[in-house]
Amino acid sequence: MFLSDVGCEVLASMLTAVIGWLSESRIMLFSLKKAVLASSWAAFLVAGKAHGHLGSKPNFIFIITDDQDLHLNSLNYQPAVQRHFAQQGTFFSKHYCTIAICCPSRVSLLTGRAAHNTNVTDVSAPYGGYTKFISEGWNEKYLPVWLQDEGYNTYYTGKLMNGHSTTTYNDPFAKGWTANDFFLDPNTYIYYNVTMQKDQDVPVTYPGEYSTDLAAERSLGFLDDAISKDAPFFIGVAPIGPHAETISGSFNPPVPAKRHKDLFPGLKVPRTENFNPDVSSGASWISQLAQQNQTVVDYNDEFYRARIQSLQAVDDLIESIISRLEKDPLVYENTYLIYTTDNGYHIGQHRLAPGKTCPIEEDYNVPFFIRGPGIGKGKVVSLPTSHTDIVPTLFTLAGIPLQAEFDGEPMPVTAEQLQDTGHRSEHVNLEFWGDSIPEGGYGGSSSKNNTYKSVRVIAQSYDLAYTVWCNNDHEIYDMKSDPGQMNNLHGSAGEVYGWDIEKLTARIDGLLLTLKACKGAVCTRPWAKLHPRGDVLSLSDAMKPAFDDFYVEQQLKVTFTACKEGYLAEFEGALEPVAYD
Ligand SMILES: *[C@@H]1O[C@H](CO)[C@@H](O)[C@H](O)[C@H]1NC(C)=O
Ligand SMILES: *[C@@H]1O[C@H](CO)[C@@H](O)[C@H](O)[C@H]1NC(C)=O
Ligand SMILES: *[C@@H]1O[C@H](CO)[C@@H](O)[C@H](O)[C@H]1NC(C)=O
Ligand SMILES: *[C@@H]1O[C@H](CO)[C@@H](O)[C@H](O)[C@H]1NC(C)=O
Repeated sequence: MFLSDVGCEVLASMLTAVIGWLSESRIMLFSLKKAVLASSWAAFLVAGKAHGHLGSKPNFIFIITDDQDLHLNSLNYQPAVQRHFAQQGTFFSKHYCTIAICCPSRVSLLTGRAAHNTNVTDVSAPYGGYTKFISEGWNEKYLPVWLQDEGYNTYYTGKLMNGHSTTTYNDPFAKGWTANDFFLDPNTYIYYNVTMQKDQDVPVTYPGEYSTDLAAERSLGFLDDAISKDAPFFIGVAPIGPHAETISGSFNPPVPAKRHKDLFPGLKVPRTENFNPDVSSGASWISQLAQQNQTVVDYNDEFYRARIQSLQAVDDLIESIISRLEKDPLVYENTYLIYTTDNGYHIGQHRLAPGKTCPIEEDYNVPFFIRGPGIGKGKVVSLPTSHTDIVPTLFTLAGIPLQAEFDGEPMPVTAEQLQDTGHRSEHVNLEFWGDSIPEGGYGGSSSKNNTYKSVRVIAQSYDLAYTVWCNNDHEIYDMKSDPGQMNNLHGSAGEVYGWDIEKLTARIDGLLLTLKACKGAVCTRPWAKLHPRGDVLSLSDAMKPAFDDFYVEQQLKVTFTACKEGYLAEFEGALEPVAYD
């Protein structure tokens, strides 16, 4: 039962009895084994003051780290995440960002739109950054603005997005925040000299103070303010860890808090099958990379260790938020907490320098935890979900009607919602434009044509990854037998899951063609666009031999005519699929 329901019932009983405890409501409360709740309720009665959070919309605390991997096991070194999220909440093991770079991913997350619909596709102008967010009009229509319209107080501390800087922050101010203390460029990624910008004040730089600790302190201040007010709240907390320390375009290992600088001696990047392999892998420029020598591998291991160290302050931040919430059990019980990151990260897989941006599982499959009223504890959900689903999910939890323009759909997060997930789709659309940005001391030049379209198809009995690059290289992997993406099946004869590879590729290409420029419901129900009769709902339905000719011969293909730095539709071949008769 949700706390809000309890609150309403208690309130109703209170009205009946005028004052004091009804034995019935007492039993009801204790039957929930929440004695602590009862004492807060008693305190409420004594104070005789209406508590705004009781029976109202739920609160949200949204913690988003920067560049945190799932596949390099960073979560294994975060006991606070394990204790307060994995054990107390639900983990979505197949949660994806849809564009593997900070600013576009954050804008997509905050608007509920795919990057091809925000057209904020890069970290800086002309194709991205804060100024593009403004010029595309998203400052008027994104999460905090919508939540304020619904009566929420909204708070944010940490990094909002790239290009939000000491010169752009007030031109105009980011809208929708009751209070904020943002990290601003160019010092966003300087752990011990961050520049912050509170409300509409001028920016202040904090030499010698640790940025993640500053974000933790601001979150607690916001929490005090939010709890003292008579309205539901949203607090966004966006520390920089474990992003590289970035000064004037050079990406160095992250700097941990001084108290953590000696932890995890000898820790190394997990030596998975795709780590610095003897045989090159991947496609396009990735397949050209040379194997890393020991000097580079050692450097990358240290880089990895610094990332894990930098995450320890994030763990401290989580502990302090939870401790503060524990002092207000009624608020705590009506608050959803989410832990995620903007995009994933790789170090050494496929011989890659540290970084993100690539169409590989490490860069897209990211941590996502949620806990709160009605959410299962210690549960793992393996349905595919993505960052475009987050706003629809929050809206649903808050009882706000969904917008037709959302490109995602609510994630089934509560035990109740998870009882009926049969209707959910099985794909995630991934996209990228522009350069890959190698990080660290041995990254080399950054001019790599890294524009591509990609799709993941994940069902109980199959799991596939498909990519078309702007040089028209193709990749298709069976992610069940080859999770490291070492064996590109594209163009090979033979079968996977009992399906002919060529015929299978034709279906997935048709799916990708439908998704690459989709809007709204087409993004969540692409097969309905390909098969308007409604008889195909999944890849396995589309594999029927009756559709061989339609997909192999008649369907248009995903192609590029050049590699461009942004979303220039005229270089992206067909934008719409042909529908089956
Ligand atoms: C901190 O950043 C400010 C603003 O960019 C700069 O002027 C100052 O020299 C930096 N301080 C240190 C200790 O690096
Ligand atoms: C290892 O590779 C790096 C990057 O290519 C190069 O700079 C360095 O000289 C190499 N070191 C050795 C010992 O070969
Ligand atoms: C990137 O793509 C462009 C346009 O397709 C091409 O002219 C250029 O040579 C490519 N650059 C590299 C480094 O491959
Ligand atoms: C995206 O933005 C760029 C830069 O402003 C523009 O040139 C391009 O046409 C836009 N793409 C679409 C599909 O609107």
